[in-house]
Amino acid sequence: MDDLDAITVGEHGLCVERFRNDLQIALDRDLARVEAEFCQQTGHGRAAGNLAGLAIELNAYHDPRDGAASEKAQPPRPHGGFHTVCARRRRQASPKKRTVRVRKPVYILNGPNLNLLGRREPHIYGTQTLKNVESMCEAKAAALGLTIDFRQTNHEGELIDWVQEAMDSAAALILNAAGYTHTSVALHDALKALSIPIIEVHLSDPAQRESFRHISFVGMAATQSIAGLGARGYELALESAASLV
Ligand code: DQA
Repeated sequence: MDDLDAITVGEHGLCVERFRNDLQIALDRDLARVEAEFCQQTGHGRAAGNLAGLAIELNAYHDPRDGAASEKAQPPRPHGGFHTVCARRRRQASPKKRTVRVRKPVYILNGPNLNLLGRREPHIYGTQTLKNVESMCEAKAAALGLTIDFRQTNHEGELIDWVQEAMDSAAALILNAAGYTHTSVALHDALKALSIPIIEVHLSDPAQRESFRHISFVGMAATQSIAGLGARGYELALESAASLV
């Protein structure tokens, strides 16, 4: 109510300061009424008590020659003794139009059994947990100016849902589909629908392991594949993503 503090509205002694004006309304010594009328005229829907946004000038008692409000012989009052006033909405700086571009995150999706990293065949996959890998990825992404969305699931359908989500929500996809790499035509089909970069990652090198791991339905749809470098492969995948987005 800063602006209104400067105004005393009385029957005869009106103490008014000049404010910026725009809307003409009538005041009957009643600020609540002023607000109601203001709201009605402007369609301004705020509740009572919001006159801080208005500056009020009691025209009838303002002497423009001395540049200040002054009490004068009272003119005939229209509307049954109403004081005619001008009320203006406080001038507001026009909001600057700003376009903020928010870069989409890089999705890092992990398939079945990768939640067991650190405990699962450590001689093949190492001793780092998936949480460790996630932390490494967070740090690497921050250094590259990227954000990540890091997830793991044991369920093929959920992995496919996330791949579909990445279509609109991710800047790039880094995917270790684990066992589904070698079995899932459905995952392959989902990946083929994406137009963002897809980077396949494996901690171990499936090509050096059992023959059933030699086929990769993910690799067939991926932009790039990184395998056999342990957790470092995820960091390299992020570097690659940064260069591709
Ligand atoms: C793996 C390799 C896959 O063959 C295996 O099924 C996995 C992990 C890897 O990261 O090395 O679960 O994707």
